[in-house]
Amino acid sequence: MDLEYSWKNHLRQCAEAGLERRLCPLQHSDGTHGIDADGRRIFIACSNDYLGLRFHPAVIGAGIEALQSSGSGSSGARAVTGAHFFAAALESALSALKGTESSLLYGTGYMGNVGTISTIASDGDFIFSDRKNHASLIDGCRLSHAQTFTYPHRDWQTLENLLQKNFGKGHRFIVSDGVFSMDGTIAPLRDLLRLANEYDAHLLIDDAHGLGVLGENGHGILEHFSIAPQGRIIQLGTCSKALGSFGGFVCGTSSFTAYLRQRSRPFLCSTMLPPSTTAASAKALEILQREKHLVEKLKNLSHLTKAFFSKNSIAFPEESVAIFPILIGSEVRAQKIARCMYDRGILLREIRYPSVPLASARLRLTLCASYDEGEWLWMLSQLHLEMKKNGALPQ
Ligand SMILES: Cc1ncc(COP(=O)(O)O)c(C=O)c1O
Repeated sequence: MDLEYSWKNHLRQCAEAGLERRLCPLQHSDGTHGIDADGRRIFIACSNDYLGLRFHPAVIGAGIEALQSSGSGSSGARAVTGAHFFAAALESALSALKGTESSLLYGTGYMGNVGTISTIASDGDFIFSDRKNHASLIDGCRLSHAQTFTYPHRDWQTLENLLQKNFGKGHRFIVSDGVFSMDGTIAPLRDLLRLANEYDAHLLIDDAHGLGVLGENGHGILEHFSIAPQGRIIQLGTCSKALGSFGGFVCGTSSFTAYLRQRSRPFLCSTMLPPSTTAASAKALEILQREKHLVEKLKNLSHLTKAFFSKNSIAFPEESVAIFPILIGSEVRAQKIARCMYDRGILLREIRYPSVPLASARLRLTLCASYDEGEWLWMLSQLHLEMKKNGALPQ
């Protein structure tokens, strides 16, 4: 079949089913609000900027200063011309916060996950991956050529069976999201670490949604579980969420990051992040540690949200902190509610196949420390109304 024809056919089918994906370009945004093409002020209820650092004056200031002193791009891969002072400073700050010997930056969190797994695991090795892991972890497993087993979501007993059956051959890697991006659930890290120790495996934990959110100080999933960093644990992450910036990172032992510097293709063969971006991320990291009220505010909003959901019989994962998926099921219904919310001036996108399995479409609310509590509660009440109106809750 002609390829152009098949693309058009697919798009027509999506349009007929009412499932066309429309992007919503905002002309201007201050983090919690944006102005749309019709000049309407839109409340943003689904950003990953958990601490509102994207518009923090000091973060913007650090970015501008680096832009002026070092230019708009980094001009090459790190191993060629892209080795800037700002990147090295950010790596030191990240490993200090994560309690590891070393860290290494990648262009994005996606590249960091793919780059790490595909470099340290290979043919003859075994990967054990949670069924709900992020696409970047899944793609890393695929590219590694290691034999990959998926275990049911957070089911460490099944994981243990798989480890038992594959003990004594090759290297073993347990790979899991820390906070699962589409569900808000948290990995059973203590059990995963116990199994990693028992079965001599490395534990790769993606803390993309944990940094700035989990733990008393927002240091992430290890702090949340009071687990000390150790050589067996590799911490993956991104600056694109709570740090309000951009770029991925991995933290572990010095020999681990040195090995990646020698062998990891997304590190070696892609242009380094711009200095303005790494400088902004480093400043955001500093603020996360200094302005402790931001993490507290996020947690207060989280309690408020849970209380609202409980009162209105809306189901949510108990352990959620900043991600609240509202399971709708039907793709069409989820999209309808999202469109009605937009008509009310609220941006809340539906998440649907292929990001999640078919018939498990959801609305994914995310919290931001910059929200005004009153406005957040207003948004929740509008959502409640639309859910009732569209048959997602009893009238
Ligand atoms: C769990 C998880 N890991 C990794 C990533 C990728 O991070 P980045 O956006 O920096 O590529 C995401 C982002 O969407 C994510 O949700």
